[in-house]
Amino acid sequence: MTIVTEPKQVSSAVATKGDSFGHEQSRDLLRFLTCGSVDDGKSTLIGRLLYDSKTIFEDQMTALEAVSKKHGTVGDEVDLALLLDGLQAEQEQGITIDVAYRFFASEKRKFIVADTPGHEQYTRNMATGASNCDLAVILVDARKGILTQTRRHSFINSLIGVRHVVLAINKMDLMDFDQEVFDTIVADYKDFAQSFEFETIAAVPLSARFGDNVVTRSDNTPWYDGPTLLGYLEEIDVESADLALPFRFPVQWVNRPNLNFRGFSGTVASGLARVGDELVVAKSGKTSRIKSIVTMDGDQEDTEAGEAVTITLEDEIDISRGDLLAPSAHRPLVTDQISAHLIWMDSTHLLLGRPYIIKMGSQQVQTTVTSLKHKLDVNDASHLTAGKTLELNEIGFCNMAFAEPLAMDTYEENQKTGSFILIDRFTNQTVAAGLVWFGLRRAENIHWQAVDVDKGARAEQKHQKPKVLWFTGLSGSGKSTIANLVEKKLHGDGRHTYLLDGDNVRHGLNKDLGFTDVDRVENIRRIGEVSRLMVDAGLIVLTAFISPYASERRLAREMLEEGEFIEVFVDTPLEICEQRDVKGLYAKARQGKIKNFTGIDAPYEAPLNPEIHVNTSTMTAQDAAERIVDLLSRDDVYDWSI
Ligand code: ADX
Repeated sequence: MTIVTEPKQVSSAVATKGDSFGHEQSRDLLRFLTCGSVDDGKSTLIGRLLYDSKTIFEDQMTALEAVSKKHGTVGDEVDLALLLDGLQAEQEQGITIDVAYRFFASEKRKFIVADTPGHEQYTRNMATGASNCDLAVILVDARKGILTQTRRHSFINSLIGVRHVVLAINKMDLMDFDQEVFDTIVADYKDFAQSFEFETIAAVPLSARFGDNVVTRSDNTPWYDGPTLLGYLEEIDVESADLALPFRFPVQWVNRPNLNFRGFSGTVASGLARVGDELVVAKSGKTSRIKSIVTMDGDQEDTEAGEAVTITLEDEIDISRGDLLAPSAHRPLVTDQISAHLIWMDSTHLLLGRPYIIKMGSQQVQTTVTSLKHKLDVNDASHLTAGKTLELNEIGFCNMAFAEPLAMDTYEENQKTGSFILIDRFTNQTVAAGLVWFGLRRAENIHWQAVDVDKGARAEQKHQKPKVLWFTGLSGSGKSTIANLVEKKLHGDGRHTYLLDGDNVRHGLNKDLGFTDVDRVENIRRIGEVSRLMVDAGLIVLTAFISPYASERRLAREMLEEGEFIEVFVDTPLEICEQRDVKGLYAKARQGKIKNFTGIDAPYEAPLNPEIHVNTSTMTAQDAAERIVDLLSRDDVYDWSI
């Protein structure tokens, strides 16, 4: 690691650049992101880069002058921040709220800049912007120095794999271009960033507003002999270390235009491969040699990190989207459990046990965070005591389990194949970015035991199609009463049934669980698993749990086969449940004697598409039960008999 923090070293690093350029793409194009806190002057800085590098056109300039008069914050001058038209909201609120990509070019290089927001709750956007960048320009207000936000952004950059950092120490004009101010900030930062994996750290004293050292060298900083910000960005060699790593090729799609051609398309994540090299499909262990490397511009003899290619192999082996191809001699890790760092980026906190989608390269499966070991302090990367959850912007060290094994590397070995994101299954939002720390091999020696008497055989003996009738609704909605009546009816008809009831199960199997969101997730997970076993045993299962979260109800549904899960929404308005208050619990909850009571101070997410919907405010429990049984026997889908 080269730490380039002193201005002098910056220039010497730049002086050696010319011959060390190797890669066409990185010489032509630099992708960088800017990050900083609100008001650090980020937008003004980017505006200045565009303006001074003459990337702005005449008509934009005229428009800008007009807008500056209306919205600007710098009197009659042209407000460069407004150049970043971005979102309307940004102009109106005076903050940046999304990632905006800008393109500009100097004589020496083209640039793509991701302008990411500094506002706390938008860390997610920052991480999104960072994920494709070679370098981060971290804005620091010379008056304020290194802030929590600076540390957090640096930490995220380092975690996500940005290897080069430039500290843009802005607003130097407000500190009389004082060298000591600059030196102190640089020293502070260097101290803090020591533990990070940045390859280079440079610092430039500047004033975005007046243009000092942005594109043109400033007379106000005679003590600084490094390059201007643009000068540095033009010259820095970000030639990726990815080339030196073992070859990794995540298959994006199988390209099969006709029967004579079968290629595997994707972008090389790291390393280099040549025609004739032996590759292994990480998960299956099948091997073959590269027959050809096809690109838009014809065939190539080899391919390297960053290139989008289609690879054909000598043998017909089974490969599909999501597979990872690698050299036989340098195989990735294949595992279904890992320890990982997670950067939580959603306003809804992490729920242990909740299923999320993990997206790692082109692989995508369901996953749960099984335990949170400790949280990290962004200020010094030290361990904090363990918590039960991660809130927005928190970073934690966790164990995770996947629905099936995935191929990966540890983050230390390969940042590309060692990082991932977590997606919420309902909102489709990215909720976290993660880094593989190590694989856990606990599951390796546990295999499925094949059995001869299976679900079908058991069901046949009982002359019924096993199912789950999943009753959900508020406490006091009538779930247990109705489920009990339905079971009685089915039992009377000769069906083999079992009723799992919330209060009862919480006396035994789930007596260790309370009513926090994490406990409820676990409660429903276990009930889902038990229901699945009972369906496997051939039974018709009735469950009566509040089951307040749509996500866990879906988890229970997905544990079963199509048509086996019947969601029954016992839809009784809160007012009526509260009026009934059979167990006196609502009264206690209102008095604050019970915490996290569903409907009072804990949420209930009503089903949107339940198979059966009953409203007990308009019918008796008896009527509801009869209607359910009636519906079930009328509809072919619910036909019990085989
Ligand atoms: S769930 O949310 O995890 O599905 P479950 O159905 O097992 O809940 O248990 C709900 C029952 O526990 C309620 O009917 C009520 O009798 C009792 N209970 C005790 N405390 C609470 C609480 N804080 N919120 C909801 N129900 C509670």
